[in-house]
Amino acid sequence: MKHLLKMSDLTAKEITGILNLADQLKYDRKHGIPHTYLQGKTLGMIFQKASTRTRVSFEVGMYQLGGSALFLSSHDLQIGRGEPIEDTARVLSRYLDGIMIRTYKQQEVEDLARFGSVPVINGLTDYAHPCQVLADLMTVREHKGALEGLKFCYVGDGNNMANSLIAGCLTMGMKVSIACPKGFEPAHDVLEAAKKHGDMFHLTHNIYEAADEADVVYTDVWASMGQESEAITRRKAFKGYQVNDDLLKVAAHDVMVLHCLPAHRGEEITAEVIDEHGEIYDQAENRLHAQKAVLVTLMK
Ligand code: CP
Ligand code: NVA
Repeated sequence: MKHLLKMSDLTAKEITGILNLADQLKYDRKHGIPHTYLQGKTLGMIFQKASTRTRVSFEVGMYQLGGSALFLSSHDLQIGRGEPIEDTARVLSRYLDGIMIRTYKQQEVEDLARFGSVPVINGLTDYAHPCQVLADLMTVREHKGALEGLKFCYVGDGNNMANSLIAGCLTMGMKVSIACPKGFEPAHDVLEAAKKHGDMFHLTHNIYEAADEADVVYTDVWASMGQESEAITRRKAFKGYQVNDDLLKVAAHDVMVLHCLPAHRGEEITAEVIDEHGEIYDQAENRLHAQKAVLVTLMK
């Protein structure tokens, strides 16, 4: 594994390797066992969109591994004035040991990996959010003991989270049910790949059908970063696609509820459900441990 660009690039063996290392790093951190795997190494973090979790967890993660991280806002980089990604990739590769990028187009992340010579990590694009899904799988495994055979339900927008969850969960042998409004389905290539998994994958417009007996119910915002101007139209289109106590009645009795955060309480999820499901904050914490495992795997 050279880069982390999207979940569909990873095999079950690679995902399991990252999750096992993440569990170990989490245990070590809790028990005061330090690591210097990345001593003297620097991660550059390019952000073209806002972030709380990704920025802080990568920066702290590098620090805890003995390395350092540079926050690079696209407003201050020449990339923001149109310098080509090819040159940015070649030049940054001469200074840095790894690059994390949060941007709009998936192609930019793929190009950074293609033209640069250091590992590239996708910190979210409009198409994918693999770092989040590794932390999500870690959290599910931590709570349920194993992933294979669990029913995973996603309710809401067929966005970057849905695309990455479908790929990651199916690779790990989970059953995946997606409920989204018409016109807001996940990406075409993701659906084509998912269909090859036969009855392990199900797409519906009915949230109760998707959540029936689900072991995990997941949701995300109705308007992602960059879609703020569509928020009013989207609010109408997504009405009814909410994770609330009524929906959870049809799920398994010990259902886990996950949300990548930030959340809009009262829209895609109720405040009551967030407050009843503390695993959402384990999930946020696990971004740190899962990403440390990615950093060690790619940069050691
Ligand atoms: N879940 C997530 O990626 O959060 P941030 O946008 O705060 O990084
Ligand atoms: N779908 C959301 C995820 C945020 C972590 C967005 O792209 O804004």
